[in-house]
Amino acid sequence: MGASNFTNQVDNVFLFILVISVVLLIGITAAMIYFVIKYRRSKHPNPVDIHGNVLLEVVWTVVPFFIVMGFFYYGVVDYREMRNIPEDAMEVEVMGRMWSWMYTYPNGVQTDTLYVPLNKPIKLKIKSVDVIHSFYVPAFRIKQDAVPGMETKMWFKAQQEGQFQVMCAEYCGDRHSYMYSQVHVLPEDEFERWYASAAAEVETFAQAQEGAEVDEAARLEKLVKQGQRLIKTKGCIACHTLDGSRLVGPSFKGIWGKTETVIANGEEKTIVVDEAYLRRSMLEPNVEIVKGYPPAMPPQGSILNEQEIQAIIEFLKTLKAEQ
Ligand code: CUA
Repeated sequence: MGASNFTNQVDNVFLFILVISVVLLIGITAAMIYFVIKYRRSKHPNPVDIHGNVLLEVVWTVVPFFIVMGFFYYGVVDYREMRNIPEDAMEVEVMGRMWSWMYTYPNGVQTDTLYVPLNKPIKLKIKSVDVIHSFYVPAFRIKQDAVPGMETKMWFKAQQEGQFQVMCAEYCGDRHSYMYSQVHVLPEDEFERWYASAAAEVETFAQAQEGAEVDEAARLEKLVKQGQRLIKTKGCIACHTLDGSRLVGPSFKGIWGKTETVIANGEEKTIVVDEAYLRRSMLEPNVEIVKGYPPAMPPQGSILNEQEIQAIIEFLKTLKAEQ
């Protein structure tokens, strides 16, 4: 059984096209070699002009027509099934951006890995915040573009437990080839447990924000934990490392309290990384660019809410500059 409900179908169409192509390739090559030898000049020194053969011409027009219509028929049958999304499918929003995928569940849980229950139809509502990406799960044989400004759809039913690779199949800039994610297919009860615990965690983070937590230290600890989670799910670490190595943007290592040279309005100035600077960097990242880096970061206002910005700042505060 295929990894998804589409795996075998897509493979069968592929095999159908492949077999016909190989038969034609061998047939045409063999006929060509046969004619080259049979009608070589030493045996036929005086060539005869041929002005047409109606039967032959009809045959080589009609046969390819039916072959191509066969490809078309099998393609359309499967395509229609891919477009025909079951009513009872669980909806998950897939957000593509340079250079990561984020999944949002009906209960508000957000992850950087797509968790799905076995044998249940999943409807994906695919969006992009910046450029065109393409959500591609090779093992499931599904691929759908993520286009900024519109919502595209796709569905599947996972038929095998396990972990499957998600890729981006549309060139989208510097780190396109690192735009990976995973689908984790879990048995239904295990999925339900994960779903409930992820929802409970969102709840505690929300309480931490509202100040329902009496103990300030415990509240901060929760925010730090949430921030640590967010830099993964929101895709920050696609460009900013934690270990000091350089990607598209500066590393987060030792960022808090660091003295940094930035370019603002074409002029260099020195700043110290504090809360206000971090907030500006998320909301208006191109106003002050750290010297030596490209102005590559999109504003995060549509991706991060105020509470999430606060949690990320609290986490970054734990990454103090070395004295
Ligand atoms: Cu996103 Cu390539």
